[in-house]
Parts: sequence; C-alpha cells; structure tokens
Amino acid sequence: MSPIELRSDNAAGVAPEILQAIEAANSGSALAYGGDAWSVRLQAVAAEVFEQADLTVFPVLTGTAANAIALSAMCPPWGAVLCHETAHILRSEGGATSMFGGGAVMRGLPGNNFLLEAASLEAAFASTRWGDPHHSQPAVVSLTNPTDFGTVYPLARLAELSRCAHEQGLLVHMDGARLANALVSLGCSPAALTWQAGVDVVTLGATKNGVMTADAIVCFNAEVAKTLTYRLKRAGQVASKMRFQAVQLQAYLNQGRWLTWASQANNAMQALVRGLQAQGATFVVTPQANMAFVRVTDDMADRLQAAGLLFYRTAPGVIRLVTSFQTTPVDIEETLVRWQQCL
Ligand SMILES: Cc1ncc(COP(=O)(O)O)c(C=O)c1O
Repeated sequence: MSPIELRSDNAAGVAPEILQAIEAANSGSALAYGGDAWSVRLQAVAAEVFEQADLTVFPVLTGTAANAIALSAMCPPWGAVLCHETAHILRSEGGATSMFGGGAVMRGLPGNNFLLEAASLEAAFASTRWGDPHHSQPAVVSLTNPTDFGTVYPLARLAELSRCAHEQGLLVHMDGARLANALVSLGCSPAALTWQAGVDVVTLGATKNGVMTADAIVCFNAEVAKTLTYRLKRAGQVASKMRFQAVQLQAYLNQGRWLTWASQANNAMQALVRGLQAQGATFVVTPQANMAFVRVTDDMADRLQAAGLLFYRTAPGVIRLVTSFQTTPVDIEETLVRWQQCL
C-alpha cells in the first residue's frame, strides 16, 4: 500500500516550473550578491504583485532566517516582539529571533482560534512598564498568517491589530510562511493582506509551496530595509549566486503560480475536511488553509499509520494533516477510503 503524504508541505517536492526556471538562469556568468539581472527583475515583479513600488525584497534561504532577521531589524535588543503564544517564532525557531535580535524577547499572548486579539495587545501594553530599563519594551507585533494551526486572520482583524500596534508606536511583522494559502483562503490581493492592512514587513514563504531553496523578506518600510541589507550579510543570508534564488521567486510569483499551487493545497484540504466530517471526525479548530488538527484516539492513530497515512501526532489525541501543491484529488479520495476502513 503506497504511503500518502500528509505530514507537511515541507515534505513535498519542487514544482517543475521552478526547476525549469533555475535551468534557464544557468547560462553564462552573472554578477554575484544580487547584482544580476534576475535579482533586479525580482524587485519589479514583487512591486507589481504587491502593488507597491517602494518595497524591497530580500531573498533568503529559510523561513526562520526571514523571520529572525526581519524581526532583528524591527526590534531593538531591549525590545519585545508580541506574538500569539503558539507562534512559530516563539515555539519552533530555537530562539533565532532572540539570537539575531541581540536578546530581544518574544512575548506570547493568548487569543481564540490561535489568532491574536486587540484585547490581548491592549492588556500587554497596559502591563508594560514603559521606559523602565528593567522591562523589555514592546516594539513589534508579529502575526502568523495562516497560523501554525491553520486558521487565517480576516482583513478587518489585521487592520484592527495593526492600528492598535501603530498607535502605540510598534511595527507590524507578518510571518507569511504560507502567505499564498492565506491569500487564497481570503480571496484578497497581496496588497490588501499586507501593507494596506498595516503590515510593515512580511516573511514571504515559497519553499512550502513548490519552490526549492528560497523564501524572502518583503519590506514596506524604508528604514527597516536599510538596516536589513547589513543584517542579512552578517547573518550569511546574501547568496553569492543570488540569481538562482531570485529566479525561483520570480517564477513563483509570475503568472499567479503561487496562488494556483496554494489553491491546490487548500482545495485538497477542504475536500479532506468535508470527507472527514462526513465520517464524524472532529477538529481542534476549523481548518481555513492547508492544515488540519484532527481529534483521534491513539488506537485510531496507530491504525491510520498502519494504513499508510503519513502524519504527525502533535498532542495526545490530536494528529496534524497537511496538504501541499502536490496533493491530488486521488490522494484525498484514497485517504478517506483508508480512514473509513480504520474506524
Ligand atoms: C508558520 C511558520 N513560520 C516559519 C517557518 C520556518 O520556516 P523554515 O522551516 O523554512 O525555517 C515555518 C516552518 O514550518 C512555519 O510553519
């Protein structure tokens, strides 16, 4: 029985269009460290896609690098980044933000459905001893969209949180490791989801959605962009052969491919959720992108595993299922058949 991949979109392969783009860029020589034509063109492509001429896009190798280095440029060493208590930057990046941030702390806040709430931010502001050097000073609000639990911030909530942050003098960062999945889920434009909603800097994930070795920081704040140039170099994230990262990101954003691939992942998840609900499954939270957390007994999880479904057990009685651009309708049908047989 062939295994069905539902562990992570990171387990998926690379889209053929990306490999072709890399191959096409592999002719002759080109200036190093972003001085090549592909890197220059990437700026123009990103400016067009995000409808913002003044943005700067910085290719990096991983989402962790994008988050940690972006946040280090947004937050002073004595500062605090306010995020949801389940945020990837707090729980799953080995303290990279604090390391690159020279000791900046991540402060986890509560919020229903794994989404931050204005009330949580207000409470954090109220409990801060502003101006007291003994207390980390909140400097950034970081929002993960979609969240690590597959929920999505509606635009109105984003605007409210950004307003709240900016009024207090904080900047807004978005961890968009799966930004395309959020865009497809909301059906809005990249501009609406980012700078028009008050986001100053976004981590643009691409590797989880068909790209091979490139994510990016998209910076809408010129001051932050200035220091990012130096911080990225010092962090070893300025690739000498940057053309090969730039060309991947271009191919990703061109012709709406990123949205097509994210739609495939989201649609596969919706079909899976509908099918599982019909079989009586319950979810920790309603899935809104390409990730679901399903309540199952340990015995059931064992049976599903024995039936060839690949997934992670994330908590007692909970498994995580993730679809990717490579998940096919046949994968979903087959998953549902095997699930039924395990009941
Ligand atoms: C929400 C979120 N942010 C950031 C990252 C970090 O990405 P990477 O593994 O490329 O460092 C991940 C990875 O799974 C993620 O899920």
